[in-house]
Amino acid sequence: MKWIIDTDPGVDDAAALIAAEKGLDVLAWSIVHGNVDLDKALVNALYLKDLLATRTPVFAGAEKPLLEKRISAPSVHGSDGLGDLERPPVKSREEKEHSVDMLLKASHDYPGELGLLTLGPLTNIALALGKDWRLAQRVRRMVIMGGTSTGRGNTTPVGEFNFAADPEAAAMVLKSGMPITLVPWEPTVEIMFKLSELEAELGDGPVARAFLAMCCPFARFIEQKMGTRGIILSDLVAAAVAINPHTVLKKQEVFAAVETAGRWGRGLTVIDYAGVSGEKPNLELCLAADRGMVLQLLKAGLR
Ligand code: BDR
Ligand code: CA
Repeated sequence: MKWIIDTDPGVDDAAALIAAEKGLDVLAWSIVHGNVDLDKALVNALYLKDLLATRTPVFAGAEKPLLEKRISAPSVHGSDGLGDLERPPVKSREEKEHSVDMLLKASHDYPGELGLLTLGPLTNIALALGKDWRLAQRVRRMVIMGGTSTGRGNTTPVGEFNFAADPEAAAMVLKSGMPITLVPWEPTVEIMFKLSELEAELGDGPVARAFLAMCCPFARFIEQKMGTRGIILSDLVAAAVAINPHTVLKKQEVFAAVETAGRWGRGLTVIDYAGVSGEKPNLELCLAADRGMVLQLLKAGLR
């Protein structure tokens, strides 16, 4: 299987890209607005490409959500998106083609063999579906980090960042008929990592050192917000699920949709646990993940 990773790097995106580099056969990184604006996200992706010394091509995609204003998360990931560290100038360059065109082309080149791992707002995927709705039939597996399983948001009272940043796009993708595994916010909070634990486990190679340095401001933010010293690597959990589906310890097939209107409800992940909507299940919802496996796959990415 070939994978495209759609991402808005982001500290936890960086962890996911590290793990995926070893664990998946990655065709391309597709960049989207999100944690930071598209230009910064692209520079971060190119920096990570240099750091990992990977040949994976990088494509720039959407700079804005489908309908409403762009939001970002500088307080979580730093104003540059990767912890505001000093870093060397970027050497790699992005490809000329737009992400959406690359994605559609790849789906024709690898029909039934393509995996999508999405770690940011779903704008690029929604735009690709808008161009060609049959994309959904050509995708073999899609793993999404986004949404919530209990309606407790991290960006609005009910909205997880990736879904709150483009609710219309998330609504479209969930409706598309793609074979989705959804990794929502809650199980990723359950397996928070202490910085000291990561320092002990990840070793002191150049990639590990750069990654751990990025994590420090992120860890401080979580400590202030949640009173716990640790970091939540949501995107890494999604990457682990893509690499090894057994990372999911508890799951349920459900019908899920994304609310796009309402005074408070915009961005809410609506989940029909009780099966009362009359709708068929449209995704596999991850309710618990294997912490040991997630850490092991990150470590494997650093070897
Ligand atoms: C998601 O939001 C972003 O800040 C993270 O990179 C992750 O993709 C978690 O809600
Ligand atoms: Ca992300």
